[in-house]
Amino acid sequence: MTGAPREILLVSGPNLDLLGDREPAIYGSETLADHVAAAVREGEHHGIGVRHVQSNHEGELIEAIHEARGWASAIIINAGAFTHTSWALHDALAAFDPPVVELHLSNPAAREPFRHISVIAPVADGVVAGFGGLGYGLAVEAVARLLGPMP
Ligand code: DQA
Repeated sequence: MTGAPREILLVSGPNLDLLGDREPAIYGSETLADHVAAAVREGEHHGIGVRHVQSNHEGELIEAIHEARGWASAIIINAGAFTHTSWALHDALAAFDPPVVELHLSNPAAREPFRHISVIAPVADGVVAGFGGLGYGLAVEAVARLLGPMP
């Protein structure tokens, strides 16, 4: 393999630390650690590393995105409820050039009206939503395809 190693920053927003326990009828019984492990496995398959950050604090997520400008080949973000409200996250992602994939376990478009708006979507290359935990592997596969073969 040549070129710089590829690494994805996987960003998890508020309340996702409670996955497994939190509204399992909507979000499933798998934990966030399970989902991260699935993303890491898919990454290994494509020769791409995955670094994960979870925070319930908007500013910490923004700092992580700023820092990723120095090293990440892509960002996959499940911003939780910040998806619907955080123009600050929108702006941080707008300042990140490589691919951005928005990710959700549920399908927000099929839920309450306040979830139909995403302020992340306008700065994402694409959205993976509604496939539960399967989405984590799909999002990594999407990044691998967007990046194409290693130079
Ligand atoms: C979510 C959907 C959001 O509307 C919600 O606030 C979440 C989780 C999802 O993964 O389905 O916290 O991002």
